[in-house]
Parts: sequence; structure tokens; C-alpha cells
Amino acid sequence: MQVFEDIAALRGYLAQMRAQGKRVGFVPTMGFLHQGHVALMKAAKADPAVDLLVVSIFVNPLQFGPREDYREYPRDLERDKELCRAAGTDALFVPAVAAMYPEGFATTVEVGGGVTDVLCGRSRPGHFRGVATVVAKLFNIVQPDVAYFGMKDAQQVVVIRRMVEDLNFPVQVKAHPTVREDDGLAVSSRNTYLSPEERRAAPVLYRSLKLAERAILAGERDAAKLKELLVREIGSEPLAQLDYAEVVSWPGLKPVTKIEAGAVLIAVAARFGRARLIDNVLVEVK
Ligand code: PAJ
Repeated sequence: MQVFEDIAALRGYLAQMRAQGKRVGFVPTMGFLHQGHVALMKAAKADPAVDLLVVSIFVNPLQFGPREDYREYPRDLERDKELCRAAGTDALFVPAVAAMYPEGFATTVEVGGGVTDVLCGRSRPGHFRGVATVVAKLFNIVQPDVAYFGMKDAQQVVVIRRMVEDLNFPVQVKAHPTVREDDGLAVSSRNTYLSPEERRAAPVLYRSLKLAERAILAGERDAAKLKELLVREIGSEPLAQLDYAEVVSWPGLKPVTKIEAGAVLIAVAARFGRARLIDNVLVEVK
């Protein structure tokens, strides 16, 4: 595995690889890697459309709000390198903040269409501008043929797909199912913030989502009823402070009142102490 901090050096290496006909798969991350990230890397390695795997690790300051956890965000580059190597990564890109955002940096990517001002976009103003901007930069640097994102961040998948289509990035965006702990908790770098009590409480998110999913599959079509179910279940856990519980269309992320045939995303976010955790399930409705 080759490790690059320098943008030009990575570009040079990738130009050589592409000249040999290699097709590039790309997994962008913020590091502190876990089984969710590893699953994306393994999917890329197993993909017949990919010959070379590039992973990036960059804690992107632009996607954190002023009162969010940019400074405390967990980092462990040596451990991350081992996980990348073990998963078969060919090139690891770990740029410095000054390389990505040199003095004078002044261009951002704003995805519209209502997909960035709902769910996490409403709770975290500017978050998806930061995500779209850094992913656009990473796509321009790596020029991947295929890029992999986790459904854990379902709204991020929608935002990136919108950007790719609107700005004609020649990349195919593949979404990977959420990797979970045995008790259902979605694996996340932010789970390290949880105290043992909070960790025991956190599976309430997935439990609430499965309750709502079962209700839909049993015939419930009233989104307000489903929201009540989510709010009640999450409210039953004293350590959980609900941020949002929503039922939206997929992939439009529009509010839904009555569930009709198609797909709906049930999405929740809650705080457990200083950890803000999100989770979702996508439900196909016949
Ligand atoms: P990060 O939170 O490190 O996640 C990197 C990728 O791993 C994302 O596509 C995310 O959805 C996926 N992922 C995280 N947890 C997962 C899980 N439990 N199961 C499956 N996939 C999971 O998302 C970001 O970084 C950043 O916003 C980024 C796209 C890198 C831009 O800065």
C-alpha cells in the first residue's frame, strides 16, 4: 500500500495506473476506521468494475459546525493504515488541511433541490455544503470510476448522487448497506464517545426503526402514527435526547404524510451524552 499526503504525487501515481488500464474504486472517509468502512473497502475490492482501490482519510473541517466535534473527532492514523492495508487498499490519501484548503480557498458546492435542508441538513446547517465541497475536490483529485458510500448516511448518498448528476462527474456512486453491531447499533466512529451506560442505551435507535418498519409492513400508512411510534420508543430511553424522527420519500427526501407504493426512508437522530448518533432504514412499500 502506498501512502500519499501530497495531491500532485497521488495524481502522478494514479495517472500511471490509469495508463495501464486500471479502473479506480474510491472510498472517502474521515478515518478512525471501523467495520463499516472496511465493508466499503471490501465491496470495492470485490467489484469486477474496479482494479485499484484508493481510500482517503481526511477529517474535513468544512463539514463541522462551529459548536461541533471537529477538534475532538477521534483520530488514529497508524491503526487506520493497518486496517486499510489488511482490506487490500492500494493507495491511501491522507492530505493535510492546508493542502485541501490553502489560503484563499473560496469555492463551495451547494446542492439544492430540498435534499440538504431536511433531516441532518436542518440540524447541521452548512454540513452538506462541506460534504459536497470536499467530495467534489476528492473526486477531482482521485478521478475514480466508482465511489462507495454507506447507507448509514443515507442523506449523504442522495446529496452526492445529486451533485454527481448535476455537475457531470464521470463516477458511479454505489451505496453499501449499514454495518451493525450484534445488538443493532450502527457502527460509527462517534460510538467511541459513548459511556458504557450510553452504549447500552444507543440500540434504541435501531429498535425504534425496526418497530416503524414492522408497522409499515403490517399495513400502517399514516406517517404521523409512525413518527409517534419512533418518538415514544426513543423517549422511553432516558439517556436519549431526540433530535429528529422522520419519514421521507426515497430518494427525494420529501416529507410524507400518507405512505404509498415505493420506497420511504425512516431516519432518526439523537444525542446520547456528547455523541450525536444517526440511523435509518429504507422500506420498500408494495
Ligand atoms: P465517515 O463518517 O468516515 O464515513 C465514510 C463512509 O463510511 C461513508 O460513506 C459512510 O456512510 C460509511 N459508513 C460509516 N459507518 C458505516 C456503517 N456502519 N455501515 C456502512 N457504511 C458506513 O461520511 C464521511 O466520513 C464524510 O462525510 C465523507 C464522505 C468522507 C466526506 O468528508
